[in-house]
Amino acid sequence: MQDVRGKVAVITGGASGIGRAMAQAFSAAGMRVVIADVEATALEQTSQELGVRGVRVDVTKPEDLEALAQTVREEFGTCHVLCNNAGVGGGGLLHELTMRDWKWVIDVNLWGVIHGLQSFLPMLLANPDGGHVVNTASMAGLSPLPGAAPYSASKYAVVGISETMREEFRGTGVGVSVLCPGFVKTNIFTSQRNRPQELRNATKKAAARTANEDMIRLVNETAIDPADVASKVLTAIVQDEFWIFTHPDLLEPYRQRNRELHGPC
Ligand SMILES: NC(=O)c1ccc[n+]([C@@H]2O[C@H](COP(=O)([O-])OP(=O)(O)OC[C@H]3O[C@@H](n4cnc5c(N)ncnc54)[C@H](O)[C@@H]3O)[C@@H](O)[C@H]2O)c1
Repeated sequence: MQDVRGKVAVITGGASGIGRAMAQAFSAAGMRVVIADVEATALEQTSQELGVRGVRVDVTKPEDLEALAQTVREEFGTCHVLCNNAGVGGGGLLHELTMRDWKWVIDVNLWGVIHGLQSFLPMLLANPDGGHVVNTASMAGLSPLPGAAPYSASKYAVVGISETMREEFRGTGVGVSVLCPGFVKTNIFTSQRNRPQELRNATKKAAARTANEDMIRLVNETAIDPADVASKVLTAIVQDEFWIFTHPDLLEPYRQRNRELHGPC
């Protein structure tokens, strides 16, 4: 999509972090932006600060995405760019995880993306001037992140969906990108703030499993500003690039995995 000016972008998880930075970058580039988020206060604050439309949406609910698509169609005519970005960080060691841990993370990070695609793809495909989908995965969608199996599983799935979309959408005018960030300075480590009551664990034990010291050190050493991520996303949309990496220097575990796969093949 070479000219983004005047195009309509919908960003889930747009009230905070990477989604907020995307909203800011897209607005600065002349796009009309809608942010959708479950956190009402942050949503209101961000939409006011950035001067963009905010809609309260829980991406785990397909009916919320349907209603969002309807609102966007009525108020903006169509959607050109869909960023399936809402996500939560959650995990713990596999043998300690509860079904609630799994359900919460998979519901938001995987079903949230699926719901976004289901509700918005018809609109994007019908645009005479094309469209673009950006799915936010993670480096944890390419190589394992110990202590975060549900997160990793959800992000591998988002990469899989995105790679399939790229094949299916060739020649349709709808481009696809998959965003695979390393650590970014956002509110992801307080994701529990948005965890529904019914999916919280009965005891504090699982909730207390947070990043270990190695992880915190890695975050402090490598985390980048969300604005740098957003600028890469905008470039990928304009230049129709599939892979969006923010930390190419952290790709070694992925290369190692590929080398292992090459061995038996
Ligand atoms: N920050 C990182 O280091 C990092 C690294 C790799 C990938 N990511 C991915 O980036 C994306 C954005 O996360 P972030 O780092 O900006 O974190 P963040 O917490 O700052 O922002 C995430 C946003 O998603 C929203 N959200 C959570 N549950 C939701 C739901 N059910 N429905 C709608 N909105 C919901 C939150 O309210 C928040 O505004 C996520 O998909 C995350 O997995 C982040």
